Amino acid sequence: KMSTQFYQMSTKLLGDTMGKMNENLTSLVLAASLFTLTLGYVSKRLLKESEDKDAKYPPYIPSSIPFLGHAIAFGKSPIEFLENAYEKYGPVFSFTMVGKTFTYLLGSDAATLMFNSKNEDLNAEDVYSKLTTPVFGKGVAYDVPNPIFLEQKKMLKTGLNIAHFKEHVKLIESETVEYFRRWGDSGERNLFEALSELIILTASSCLHGKEIRSMLNEQVAQLYTDLDGGFSHAAWLLPTWVPLPSFRKRDRAHREIKNIFFKVIEKRRKSGETADDILQTLIDATYKDGRPLTDDEIAGMLIGLLLAGQHTSSTTSAWLGFFLAQDKALQDRCYAEQKAVCGEDLPPLDFDQLKDLNLLERCLKETLRLRPPIMTMMRMARTPQTAAGYTIPVGHQVCVSPTVNHRLRDAWMERMEFRPERYLNDTADKFAYIPFGAGRHRCIGENFAYVQIKTIWSTLLRLYEFELVDGYFPTINYTTMIHTPHNPIIRYKRRKQ
Ligand code: HEM
Repeated sequence: KMSTQFYQMSTKLLGDTMGKMNENLTSLVLAASLFTLTLGYVSKRLLKESEDKDAKYPPYIPSSIPFLGHAIAFGKSPIEFLENAYEKYGPVFSFTMVGKTFTYLLGSDAATLMFNSKNEDLNAEDVYSKLTTPVFGKGVAYDVPNPIFLEQKKMLKTGLNIAHFKEHVKLIESETVEYFRRWGDSGERNLFEALSELIILTASSCLHGKEIRSMLNEQVAQLYTDLDGGFSHAAWLLPTWVPLPSFRKRDRAHREIKNIFFKVIEKRRKSGETADDILQTLIDATYKDGRPLTDDEIAGMLIGLLLAGQHTSSTTSAWLGFFLAQDKALQDRCYAEQKAVCGEDLPPLDFDQLKDLNLLERCLKETLRLRPPIMTMMRMARTPQTAAGYTIPVGHQVCVSPTVNHRLRDAWMERMEFRPERYLNDTADKFAYIPFGAGRHRCIGENFAYVQIKTIWSTLLRLYEFELVDGYFPTINYTTMIHTPHNPIIRYKRRKQ
């Protein structure tokens, strides 16, 4: 009877937390899966007696809510939750959410364990594959053994080179000018929505090539949206076979997008014309053993490239816009920098000048400190791990949070202030600043992201002056997997040259 009560309560609470999902089947399916999860959880608890009696485990944050544990408090405001726990328990602690135990490693020292570990010990596939494999497809990223993924990352990195970036700057500038025509001379508009739409176009131009970009219409954009719907809390919590409408949409979108990509890849292969872009880099790439990528692997990597860069760059660009809108003097200095570096008449942007926009670069860096899009990196402990003198047992989900590391009281001065000058002299500990992660799973998109966001904002600074609407700086929406700005409306008017 106890377990029935659990699951009824959990279903309700979880239903409340995931207010977004109002699909008909949802509650039925959630109930069924939570029941299964609960059974698993109860049997795990019973088996737990066999743990090593001598080991000193990380402090455990107790909860009076069985199974769900701290899911509600964490879901509401994760950063506050973690900061409070840090004050109370120190850099390493554990707690339960939805039957899973999470151990956070906060601060530069504790985070070292994650970034120096082997993938066989702290494993990424175990925690990410369930989300990513249905979206990217089989044969790439977390669906393959990590040494293979590392080879794939290397191929991508080869494509993300300076010669290509030079082309990207031109493509991004023209996409941005074209997109923002619809904004007219002045007004108040949703900045985040606009940047999300723009960045699908720029990312597709730069990362997929002109054939795929030319096929991007509203229908295809909808397919991306459906595919992207695969990155949801539901997909993370529920088994993949559950017949949720959003899962079916995701799977259909995956098939249709791949078919589009297959046709383009085939046409490129046949045409004999070798374009100089990332698609061509992937078509020509080989693994160490000489095997080329299959069309399915290439298509999977193209999906991965687009989605990895989409939300991360669009949220970052939007937050950067609000930080600039909030501080008119800083915004004016960034505009002055455009003229000082590129010339009074503001000619078309080029990659070499972009590198010299140091103030804009520091503003972006500071945006990534205060609003890193990936708030938590996760691994599964496959072997016992040691951190801060504690033993982390097998089965814990080990986490590092860039957001928390980026604002730790002991590590940063004026930690909550947007202060781009801090990078002129401050030196941070090794893992105090990690918006792109570190170690074997480190991001390969950092340089592209900088090129993309700096080009977009150079263009926007030249077009408009921005300000907050009645002083409102967006609050953080924690219900999305990537923390987005809430009610992200900005006021703008055309700049007089
Ligand atoms: C502002 C933009 C971006 C941010 C903040 C960001 C952040 C991150 C972070 C934190 C990780 C590490 C994940 C982990 O250790 O679990 C990562 C990995 C990665 N990112 Fe990015 N990223 C950005 C843009 C991009 C772009 C544009 C691409 C592709 C063009 C990309 C491709 C990747 C790939 C392939 C990985 C490797 C994952 C692994 O090895 O497990 N990212 N990124």
